Amino acid sequence: MNASHPSQRRSLDAVTRGRVLFGGDYNPEQWPEETWREDVRLMRRARVTSVTLGVFSWSTIEPEPGAREFRWLDTLMDLMHDHGIDVVLATPTASPPPWMGRLHPDTLPRDADGRTEWWGGRQHFSHSSATYRRYAAAITEDLAARYAGHPALTLWHINNEYCTYDHGDEAAAAFRRWLRERYGTLDALNTAWGTAFWSQGYDTWDGVLPPRRAHYLTNPAQLLDFRRFTSDMLLECFRAERDIVRRHTPHLPVTTNFMPLWSGQDAWRWAGEEDVVSVDLYPDPRDPLGAQHGALVQDMTRSQAGGGPWMLMEQAAGPVNWRGVNHPKPRGLNRLWSLQAVARGADAIHYFQWRQSRQGAEKFHSGMVSHAGEHGRTFQEVVELGADLARIGPEVAGRRVGADIAVLHDWDAWWASAQDGRPSARVDLPDVLHAWHRALWEAHLTTDFAHPEHDLGGYRLVVVPQLYALTDAATDHLLAYVRAGGTLVSGFLTGVADQDDRVREGGMDARLRALFGIRTLHEWWPLEAGETAPCDGFDGTLWSEEIESDDTADETIPYVGGELDGLPAVLRRGRAWYLSTLPEPDALRALLTRIATDAGVRPVLAGLPADVEAVRRGDLLFLLHHGREPVVVDVPGTHHDLLTGTAHTDRVPLGRYGAVVLRS
Ligand code: GLA
Repeated sequence: MNASHPSQRRSLDAVTRGRVLFGGDYNPEQWPEETWREDVRLMRRARVTSVTLGVFSWSTIEPEPGAREFRWLDTLMDLMHDHGIDVVLATPTASPPPWMGRLHPDTLPRDADGRTEWWGGRQHFSHSSATYRRYAAAITEDLAARYAGHPALTLWHINNEYCTYDHGDEAAAAFRRWLRERYGTLDALNTAWGTAFWSQGYDTWDGVLPPRRAHYLTNPAQLLDFRRFTSDMLLECFRAERDIVRRHTPHLPVTTNFMPLWSGQDAWRWAGEEDVVSVDLYPDPRDPLGAQHGALVQDMTRSQAGGGPWMLMEQAAGPVNWRGVNHPKPRGLNRLWSLQAVARGADAIHYFQWRQSRQGAEKFHSGMVSHAGEHGRTFQEVVELGADLARIGPEVAGRRVGADIAVLHDWDAWWASAQDGRPSARVDLPDVLHAWHRALWEAHLTTDFAHPEHDLGGYRLVVVPQLYALTDAATDHLLAYVRAGGTLVSGFLTGVADQDDRVREGGMDARLRALFGIRTLHEWWPLEAGETAPCDGFDGTLWSEEIESDDTADETIPYVGGELDGLPAVLRRGRAWYLSTLPEPDALRALLTRIATDAGVRPVLAGLPADVEAVRRGDLLFLLHHGREPVVVDVPGTHHDLLTGTAHTDRVPLGRYGAVVLRS
């Protein structure tokens, strides 16, 4: 499986045209027309290249069923064009107007308890509702027809952060259709779901339901298929709108914005259906690992874009409003994190939103123009960043980020593992992914992400933090990768189940056990918070395993003391490594650095001060300083910083949150 083929995509290059795009969601329907003129003046000051219009404009465009109010949007499209600003035009289908739910309650989703999600917020639509889909198609059709020839329009943005679930009756019917297509017969469904357990055998399709409130644990395979179904139904909604806009503007690319590591969409499959991959990213400014979270999401998004440029569709210029405590970004951080995204392949830096709202649920969420206005620090920094991006854009846009390491991630495996009734509720795949990526990030080893069935041939090292469920094809693929000379390192709880969440005989796939030199996996010994599993040279955390090796291992690191004393915590057989625990951060970094070095992978730059991140994009070297104290980085040779025009020889100084983009 290859999720996406970049060459088939209408590329982002056609939109960027040698620039790094800069702008944000623009929701002018909240403001009087005088403000629009002021907005344009400020956009010009900030060198905004592009804005996203229409994301939540449904009730403004269609105030009553079938009505169309496009004049305000005509004015704005013209205004943008007159001032040289491109428009990313969104279909407004993420937030249906109140009349829709009132007249058509069938458009409203139900949760697993049967409770309706009412209008009054947003995203209150059922992906399975024929009525919703009809209205969504109609407004998309009219929007596309009206603006197809408008010179400001450069990119389509479908819906917004697809994330809804529905357990209601229309969704139940759709779920049954989806299951019939997957399994063909009821017998096959009963087998795949293991319904012999707990008397769950189905005698008719009509009895099959989405997971609804149940007395005790719900069938895990049913839950897994419901996650697949939900992702597929939302994808159908996306495709329907995408195909409409493509009919009107076959030359224009189409995107929809992902949420980072969002469990509701199989982003590999989705990315293959988009021309441009985009993501919304909101690291917490107070999180000491916020920059690493950013790097992980950026690496994953770039990989979903087939390694090519991608779009940061939303970030915050200052605080968000949805954490318990919402911190602003200290001076310089907005610029630094934006340049980090560019370093890791973004050719567009957009925000939610242009002007901070004065009303509505997000009035305390920052905008590029904050409540403090033109003279506020936030806008001042936005202006500075706009100038920076304008300066480096022509040198940066379109260049690719190279990586010798692939980290594997798969939504099916995630969905199967993220359920109740597991050995440890403390094991959370996103945490595990972050831990492994952090080790590589801190070692300055650039990583791509990949699906376990993607072509891995170009990578020297493949890292599997955890793939609880693996298909036979994926397992064979990993074995073939190692046979062909690749180095594979796998974390615990990998290869435990098949595609139906059926546990493999022996508790772990026999082929993988043979690969790593494991004869018997006797028991899992999950660890409590604060508990460690001492190993020779480091402490394991989160998890440990009672493993009997088959004596073919070339190297082992044993557990020391306790119940597992002397048993292997880490095994290496040839170029295949297995880690049955999660080493503490320093130990994981040291181990992965050694494995990477043995596999011939070098860090971007050696001897970097702590807090300095280095990324190569094409022949440019980005140095990003995440600390507050000034540092000097040794970079042999003479280099020109594209941001300042300064030449540096051998030593590059970086101030608080400083960044350089060096060409040698
Ligand atoms: C998401 C949405 C935006 C806005 C921001 C706030 O990313 O797409 O509309 O709600 O969150 O952070």
